[in-house]
Amino acid sequence: MSGHEVGVGPWEGPLPDDGRFDPELLAEGDRRNVVDRYRYWSREAIVADLDTRRHGFHVAIENWQHDMNIGTVVRNANAFLAAAVHIVGNRRWNRRGAMVTDRYQHIHHHPTIEDLVAWAEEQGLPLIGIDLLPESVPIEHHPLPRECVLLLGQEGPGLSDTAREACEVVLSIAQFGSTRSINAGVASGIAMHTWIRQHGV
Ligand SMILES: C[S@@+](CC[C@H](N)C(=O)[O-])C[C@H]1O[C@@H](n2cnc3c(N)ncnc32)[C@H](O)[C@@H]1O
Repeated sequence: MSGHEVGVGPWEGPLPDDGRFDPELLAEGDRRNVVDRYRYWSREAIVADLDTRRHGFHVAIENWQHDMNIGTVVRNANAFLAAAVHIVGNRRWNRRGAMVTDRYQHIHHHPTIEDLVAWAEEQGLPLIGIDLLPESVPIEHHPLPRECVLLLGQEGPGLSDTAREACEVVLSIAQFGSTRSINAGVASGIAMHTWIRQHGV
């Protein structure tokens, strides 16, 4: 739709006396893709507010070949308010699909699966694999821990053997058609929303 502007224009009336507001956004308007309660808030103020109510699940994804789905994983993590996103393998990922949500999300990098495993052990968080493997258990009927790491594999190979072995359980999302798998971005949204249905609402 052409000519459709997102957001709000410059603040009208006396300026609010609230440290969360960003003077530049108040003066020029706020065209960011943020929910109404955060209009005119600085990025730092939004992150600080999100930090007070993040959920107990983390989401991790293996990134050995610059997976194009990671942007979607980050965007979903923001929507479902994951504690943090963990990228395992290559540090670089394509930010386009994130739609700028990476600015409001804690994103950690782990060079190897062993690094992620060590970090998760330190935090006392079980790794819950998300993949369609012979040993997988249906996510639709499986209770998810309130605090955990949902670990996705990457497009093509899926979860690596090392990742599989480190997981407490691997969960599959039911499919009914002819394709072998759905993409990792979509799978991440379903897995996170399954956690939300069990613990978040
Ligand atoms: C495209 S899939 C990997 C392809 C897969 N190894 C194959 O046999 O074709 C990439 C990632 O998306 C997630 N995924 C895709 N479909 C899934 C499903 N039905 N259940 C659980 N995870 C899935 C998993 O994390 C997987 O590692």
